[in-house]
Amino acid sequence: MGVTLSFISLKGGVGKTTIALETASVLANDFGKKVLLVDGNFSAPNIHLYLDLKHDSTLHNALNGDNGLHAAIYEIYGMDVVPASLNFQSTVDPYKLKKILEKHKHRYDFIIIDSSPHHSEMLPAIAAADKIFVVTTPDDVTLNTSMKAASLAKKNNVPIEGVIINKVRHPRYELDLEEIEKSFELPVLARIKDNKKLIESYHQKVPISVYDSMNEISKEIKRFAGSLAGIREQRGFLSKLFGKDFKKESVNRELMRQNFYESQFK
Ligand SMILES: Nc1ncnc2c1ncn2[C@@H]1O[C@H](COP(=O)(O)OP(=O)(O)O)[C@@H](O)[C@H]1O
Ligand SMILES: [Mg+2]
Repeated sequence: MGVTLSFISLKGGVGKTTIALETASVLANDFGKKVLLVDGNFSAPNIHLYLDLKHDSTLHNALNGDNGLHAAIYEIYGMDVVPASLNFQSTVDPYKLKKILEKHKHRYDFIIIDSSPHHSEMLPAIAAADKIFVVTTPDDVTLNTSMKAASLAKKNNVPIEGVIINKVRHPRYELDLEEIEKSFELPVLARIKDNKKLIESYHQKVPISVYDSMNEISKEIKRFAGSLAGIREQRGFLSKLFGKDFKKESVNRELMRQNFYESQFK
């Protein structure tokens, strides 16, 4: 039985789609997992644009009852992907997402939902998830909106696994990992740098983890997805020598690996 994960924030442009897509791609291609990636951005979906995915049927058709979800599943880069329609109709009930996905959970190890930054559309993506990851950039403006997203998930009783910091540019002028963990009272599970190479892979419409697996975004996503898949992280020489605290900025994925993977799958 698979586990459903939603990546949320109440701000556009922080990297939800990128991180959801790359995590799905790495789980499928590097860790051999069966993955369904769902575009849960009901009014402004973009996963099909990121992947240049040609499609006739969408999540909206399944939500409308035009056909089953099967008709809207497309295989690309080793994952199954459900695109959504750019023509959002108010007749669509996004809260049906949970029920629709429940029927497919047995066929996947992971169902990954990309979500909208709009409150009314984010809530159905939270409701459909077993676990939530909050995405933020390391500045107070975004942090405040991301904390609001986290509190909405808490109110809906969906456990938040942790925070992903994206687009780290200049640590000297940005919030550090400890400040972010303290604000959220949640662990930081990945810290992804702003990297120019992403624009190249975006231009090619290929996930960066496939386009350039040695890129620093790809490597950090691989460490993050690896802990979801239960892979124990290789520790560097210095961290073995001095313990995991030698580096102030190191994220605590081991905790997630234990809490998440071992309780879910063993
Ligand atoms: N770590 C990163 N480095 C550089 N560009 C990034 C990074 N993460 C995301 N982007 C870019 O920022 C833009 C918004 O990302 P996206 O994933 O669509 O955000 P969201 O889904 O939260 O709106 C895209 O152009 C994407 O390529
Ligand atoms: Mg998006």
